[in-house]
Amino acid sequence: MSNNILEGKRGIIFGALDNKSIAWKVAEHAHAEGATFVLTNAPIALRMGTINELAEKTGSKVIPADATSMDDLKALYEGAMKELDGKIDFVLHSIGMSVNVRKGRAYYEQNYDWTMKGYDVSAMSFHKTMQAAWELDAINEWGSVVGLSYIAAQRVFHTYNDMADNKAVLESIARSFGYHYGLRNKVRVNTISQSPTDTTAGSGVDGFDGFYRFANDCADYCISLFSDYTRKVTMQNLFHDGGFSFTGMSETAMDTYLKVLEEEKKG
Ligand SMILES: NC(=O)c1ccc[n+]([C@@H]2O[C@H](COP(=O)([O-])OP(=O)(O)OC[C@H]3O[C@@H](n4cnc5c(N)ncnc54)[C@H](O)[C@@H]3O)[C@@H](O)[C@H]2O)c1
Repeated sequence: MSNNILEGKRGIIFGALDNKSIAWKVAEHAHAEGATFVLTNAPIALRMGTINELAEKTGSKVIPADATSMDDLKALYEGAMKELDGKIDFVLHSIGMSVNVRKGRAYYEQNYDWTMKGYDVSAMSFHKTMQAAWELDAINEWGSVVGLSYIAAQRVFHTYNDMADNKAVLESIARSFGYHYGLRNKVRVNTISQSPTDTTAGSGVDGFDGFYRFANDCADYCISLFSDYTRKVTMQNLFHDGGFSFTGMSETAMDTYLKVLEEEKKG
């Protein structure tokens, strides 16, 4: 599926670690839709991952940036505008990490230094990504910024731990910055609340590894939000989950539950 709906658009894509990453799929789809873009990731991730393969495939330059560093972010926007020969039309923020989750600390026994680190990487970096662009006036009118969230921002999924709080802040930042950026430059800001997807970040959360690979579908949705077809959609948290967030109980879940009850009755 390719209709060149991003032809002439310039972007920055954060977060492609390997070919399972949601950002990796977004880069492939954006390339197929005619966009040009710069790929970026934290320096350490660039050493560990396989981003050069993606850069070659999509004809993109890679510019390292730790998304918690304003200096790195400003250098990134400056480098990207130079490389792409103009201001930026779309930004994908596809970044998340919790040290507490990684190290197996439960929600009620957090190490707060780790909590703050995860908060900076997963939530505040979204604000920094936009404030750096704002200060450099780096995003074109009708530009689009997208961050990736998860339904644990609204409902409890206990294994998601402190990332639930980070996602709640991420979604709030989309609303607040979306208001200001819309007023100044007609730039829209949204979060996509993605259903569990089999990626490196996803595999760190218990119960996520059994899910199918939804990264390509998520990438399609990102492309629509970067395109001119969604210019008035802003300050939203948009669920991309096949209706899960608004389903009380599915037939399959009910059948499974009834079977368990029957088994229990049998003893
Ligand atoms: N996989 C899922 O099930 C799922 C579901 C909902 C939302 N999400 C969100 O999607 C986004 C992308 O995750 P993914 O599943 O593709 O996993 P991923 O591990 O491939 O991507 C996470 C990325 O964050 C980058 N990152 C970490 N620290 C950074 C820093 N300081 N500066 C710059 N980049 C940094 C990593 O290098 C990596 O590329 C995350 O925000 C995640 O929370 C994922």
